[in-house]
Amino acid sequence: MGGIFGFICSKEREVRDVIIGLQRLIYRGYDGWGLTYFRGEEPIVIKQLGSVSSSPTSINERSYLAVGHTRYASRGWPTLENTHPLMDCHKNIYVFMDGIIDDYEKIRDELTKSGHKFVSTTDTEILAHLLELKDLKEVMDAVKGIFSAVVLKKGEKGVYAINKGQPILLGLGKECYFLSSDLPSLSGFAEEAVIIPDNSVLYVLPTSYEIFADGTKPSIKRVKYQPEISEKAGFPHFMLKEIYDIPEAVINSYYSLMQKYLTLAGMIVYGGKNVFIVGNGTSLHAGLIASYYLGEMGIQSHVVSAAEFPYYSLENVTTGSVIIAISQSGETSDVIKSVKLAKIRGAVIIGVTNSVGSRLALESNVYLPITAGPEMAVPATKTFTSTLIALRTLSLYVGLNSGKAGNRDIADFESRIRALSSFIKDSLNAFEEEAETAASKIESASLYVTSSGINYPLALEGALKLKEAAGTHAEGIQLGELLHGPITLTLRGHPVIAIKPAETAAEDLFNKVIKTVTDREGKVFVIKVEKTFGWDLSPVVNAIPIQLVAYKLGVRLGLPIDTPPGLVKAVVV
Ligand code: F6R
Repeated sequence: MGGIFGFICSKEREVRDVIIGLQRLIYRGYDGWGLTYFRGEEPIVIKQLGSVSSSPTSINERSYLAVGHTRYASRGWPTLENTHPLMDCHKNIYVFMDGIIDDYEKIRDELTKSGHKFVSTTDTEILAHLLELKDLKEVMDAVKGIFSAVVLKKGEKGVYAINKGQPILLGLGKECYFLSSDLPSLSGFAEEAVIIPDNSVLYVLPTSYEIFADGTKPSIKRVKYQPEISEKAGFPHFMLKEIYDIPEAVINSYYSLMQKYLTLAGMIVYGGKNVFIVGNGTSLHAGLIASYYLGEMGIQSHVVSAAEFPYYSLENVTTGSVIIAISQSGETSDVIKSVKLAKIRGAVIIGVTNSVGSRLALESNVYLPITAGPEMAVPATKTFTSTLIALRTLSLYVGLNSGKAGNRDIADFESRIRALSSFIKDSLNAFEEEAETAASKIESASLYVTSSGINYPLALEGALKLKEAAGTHAEGIQLGELLHGPITLTLRGHPVIAIKPAETAAEDLFNKVIKTVTDREGKVFVIKVEKTFGWDLSPVVNAIPIQLVAYKLGVRLGLPIDTPPGLVKAVVV
């Protein structure tokens, strides 16, 4: 995976704008970055290892054409040779790719036998060599995989892009066209962007462009202006900034949901023959919480990891099935694959994503935006809480159909979100201090995070955050299950983070588990927010302390919190 950003203009502009664009795509990879621009007719290539965010933006040159790439090393180690652009034998063709090519080893062997010289171990390089022999469309058809690519050719005024199942957008600026892997990165550069359809080729000149597509018409999306997109606003890390964004994000998320789509989605879910909720990681945990929301409205749902769904659930998907697909990036390949397979079997797709131009948004029959704003840190924080707002709102609209909720419940929810938002805003500093104190007492290399009921999925999510941001092994477990074996490890200071359940029925169990662990000299950290905003919002408010503990522990351990080693924001491999 990776991120591509570039421009082609009728007037020269600063090459360092490409670095700004790449820094906004940093969540897609940070193992190395490279760019190519033209000095007169001469292509200049710059490559560096490591994150583009820690690179100086001191390239003081202007050009009419520049393209760059930030790399996640999925095929081939993070080396300079593997950093993009990759070139053909004669260094006439420069290729930047986002995605993967499945059969690249076979093709590379064939090309090597016929005399082509390879310098890297990436899949991308085969595109450059194939382009010596075939045109772009033929190359796209000749390889197996999901990717987008941008291609520059020495001596040509224009730039090519291809979309083979992986998005690439064309931003329409004033004197420039911009190419980018996502919509938010275009903020401030272009006000509108053309979504290039799958399996098509784009050719862009400084003042015109042409799309060669079979069938699907390109659509145009507005680019939301987000001045803050790649700035930490004084915070040391994006993760902390994004936790501090939560009070505003939850409000935005609620008010951005459009009634007509909620009404439609509510009817679809209520009328569904069966309902599946699919997602991965944090989105899967949000989906698990949604199953409690839907359960309250009388709808039984099946929550399945998108990594498992295609293999074990598809046979129960038929016409009339409903899939609620959750993905903050909207690009996670397990989710897209699940959605596509379910659609073939006649299911209706309700997509929940933070990315309007994403594949999930495009594949969905009804699409509910998360509207958390851009999230730059790889560990998801505000997208999780905003996803919960979207899913709870959806469940209330399902309840309008099942008779388990009324308009009054929706109005009440709205006012509780507002109260929750101002409470979080006022409490964040105190939460941060308490999280700091808790983190200073965690010395173990392994933790349990436990809760019950609607907060049980939050225990799973808390454990995920501890792994990602604090590099510490943690296991999310139900309170009751802790007693069935795992408790044996809680001797002599073993930490257990216990999130107080929202259900009164779980109170006794909670107290019993805390006592048992303490009696065994385990170290219990209780997450209990005194003020309550209702059962449904308790995982939203409880998420913040657990996210902060993970963050603070990561800081204490000196870890690269925003960019955990070996992780990217959207897993498309
Ligand atoms: C969480 C995280 C991952 C993602 C997962 C799904 O902090 O980084 O677990 O949640 O890869 O991503 P999306 O929601 O984009 O499909």
